[in-house]
Amino acid sequence: NKFLYLSPTFIPDNLETISSKYSSGTQKLVKDAKDSFEEMAKDAKSQGYTIRAISAYRSYDRQTTIYNKYVKENGLADANTFSAKPGFSEHQTGLAVDVDNNSLSFTKFKNTKEFTWMKENSYKYGFIIRYTDENNYITGYVKEEWHYRYVGKDIAKFIYDNKIKSYEEYYVKHIENKK
Ligand code: DAL
Ligand code: ZN
Repeated sequence: NKFLYLSPTFIPDNLETISSKYSSGTQKLVKDAKDSFEEMAKDAKSQGYTIRAISAYRSYDRQTTIYNKYVKENGLADANTFSAKPGFSEHQTGLAVDVDNNSLSFTKFKNTKEFTWMKENSYKYGFIIRYTDENNYITGYVKEEWHYRYVGKDIAKFIYDNKIKSYEEYYVKHIENKK
């Protein structure tokens, strides 16, 4: 997040490629996240919803390219509200994935039936919606309906059931304060 970062050389262990049935291009996640993502996309498909990974693991260098492009196009202050600096993106952990429905641009994902499905179901597979209007004050990023973070099924369910607004809030109350 904005406070905790990874070294340029950090590459997660156990990166695996998401099935091309559920991705655009080659997209990788850490094994557990990848298995859960495929399970989710498969179940969604069987219910008539298309969920496709469009950007998952990103290397430090890839994030550098993306961030610099946004800074050039939008200016530093604006870019910092929606793009993470290299080292600060959770995409580098191999636990974050951006999705679309293979029809509309990811920036329009909020208007799709797939987003409604993800709001109701992604936690069952261990994914949380990471950036919302309700948590912008703590994450520092504007809402992203397309960005999901794998935290595992138990924690995702706990966050969903208890209506915890951000992973930062979960971390402070349920991990850091219990140490
Ligand atoms: N868009 C998110 C914040 C990232 O760049 O990781
Ligand atoms: Zn993302």
